[in-house]
Amino acid sequence: MAEQFVCKAAEFKDGDRRIVRIGQHEIGVFNHQGDIYAYSNYCLHQGGPACEGLTIAAVEEHLNEDKTSKGLFFSDKQMNFVCPWHGMEYDMKTGECVSDRKMKLRSYKVTKKGDDLYVSV
Ligand code: FES
Repeated sequence: MAEQFVCKAAEFKDGDRRIVRIGQHEIGVFNHQGDIYAYSNYCLHQGGPACEGLTIAAVEEHLNEDKTSKGLFFSDKQMNFVCPWHGMEYDMKTGECVSDRKMKLRSYKVTKKGDDLYVSV
């Protein structure tokens, strides 16, 4: 198992990300609300840098009881990150492509050793 230093945990705040490399693996590491996620930086669409684009709350349509729309709202539960090449969105908590959840980025384990964060393959 190979591992790579990511950064000091104290310097990795909510909303931060780092891109690290281990051999042929390029990995995006995110801090989202204090939880750490790490995914392959190779987009499942055409290999773009999936972890380097915007992070944005999922857009949800809220419905009235009669199923008419109340409008579109940003989710307070689901954050996505967006591949900058063509806009494919991935669920921050799972790495799944939100338009086709059968497609999922490879995830990696992140370990905290003292105040240091490491990602491993
Ligand atoms: S390469 Fe990522 S959306 Fe096309």
